Amino acid sequence: MSTFDKTILVTGGAGFIGSHVIRLFVNKYPHYKIVNGDALTYAGNLENLKDVEHQPNYAFAKVDITDEVAVKALFNHYHFDAVIHLAAESHVDRSILDPLAFVKTNVLGTAILLNACRKHWDGNHEGKLFYHVSTDEVYGSLGETGFFTEETPYDPHSPYSASKAASDHFVMAYHDTYGLPVVMSNCSNNYGSHHFPEKLIPLMINNIKNNKPLPVYGKGENVRDWLFVEDHARAIDVIFHKGRLGQSYNVGGFNEWKNIDLVHLLCNIMDKKLGRAAGESAKLITYVKDRAGHDLRYAIDATKLNKELGWSPSLQFEEGLEKTVEWYLNNEEWINHVTSGDYQNYYDVQYEKR
Ligand code: NAD
Ligand code: TYD
Repeated sequence: MSTFDKTILVTGGAGFIGSHVIRLFVNKYPHYKIVNGDALTYAGNLENLKDVEHQPNYAFAKVDITDEVAVKALFNHYHFDAVIHLAAESHVDRSILDPLAFVKTNVLGTAILLNACRKHWDGNHEGKLFYHVSTDEVYGSLGETGFFTEETPYDPHSPYSASKAASDHFVMAYHDTYGLPVVMSNCSNNYGSHHFPEKLIPLMINNIKNNKPLPVYGKGENVRDWLFVEDHARAIDVIFHKGRLGQSYNVGGFNEWKNIDLVHLLCNIMDKKLGRAAGESAKLITYVKDRAGHDLRYAIDATKLNKELGWSPSLQFEEGLEKTVEWYLNNEEWINHVTSGDYQNYYDVQYEKR
């Protein structure tokens, strides 16, 4: 008999957001057993969890969610009460280079996990939950005005967002068809520590530091809505414990930035931190060929989550960005490890042709 109140599988726990979710749950809920199930792809890094890896309520299992036999064996070993599903291929540019990898992990992998829950729980749903972590990108692109609400029809444009949309539909289909207890959230762009430097903010921080060109796609006028990753983890905690079954909740900070304005803000922060003359880092800005199918604007209306479950973001953007920059400057070893090896190949393919 387990001495824990619940055993929770967190998939993708070695990634950016997953590692923050694991840290929060392991520290806040010593009476929960947290199992990090991750295939350790290029984006998964156990260094992200060094501070919690020896806690008695934490365990790691190397598992590929597209491997049905391995997933079944994991369920038979741990008898999970709940799954918080974050494992995914997560980068839009990579999805343009290799769409099928996204179909495999994001669609098939999610369906395999849902099916494992259905079979393992076998209709005994008391205290069980499948929590699916998704993205605002499933809603497509906004014009100059308006927000995504939970009622906005899905209209994905990239292979990444199409694969996430498909996975969301599978989650809700398992709820409607088999009565599987599910809940879902769709969050805006996250930023913070441990973010792999293929995404805008960590890539720019790393390039500014190394005096490399800052590749801004198109005219830099696309808008993203940025949320501090620890606020997302807090939202997942609240929705996991209090969210209504069969519902989805939008998560976002009402914090829209044009890419070019954000890059300038980062340059200003970095100039100060690195003791450079004002305007020095911004000279590195280089406009490059636009991303294919580039969504113009994302903006989340998180009113439902705020009104129903009382969540709101804790940090102002400038404060969060400063913390983030400081983390990258203080964790040179982390960045050196993740940018060695395959990262360089990806970077060459992605940026040399632009
Ligand atoms: P990430 O790329 O940093 O991490 C993904 C993790 O999943 C890695 O640890 C990787 O090893 C693991 N993984 C990949 N394929 C796997 C497989 N087949 N089996 C098992 N593990 C596998 O991603 P992230 O930015 O932390 O995003 C986590 C989740 O949150 C994703 O589902 C993503 O769609 C969603 N999301 C991300 C953002 C964002 O801004 N990053 C915003 C909203 C939603
Ligand atoms: P990204 O971090 O890849 O997140 P997403 O595409 O999922 O929103 O990109 C954020 C924005 O920054 C997006 O509009 C594309 C743009 N971008 C650049 O201009 N240059 C870059 O090198 C990268 C990676 C992104």
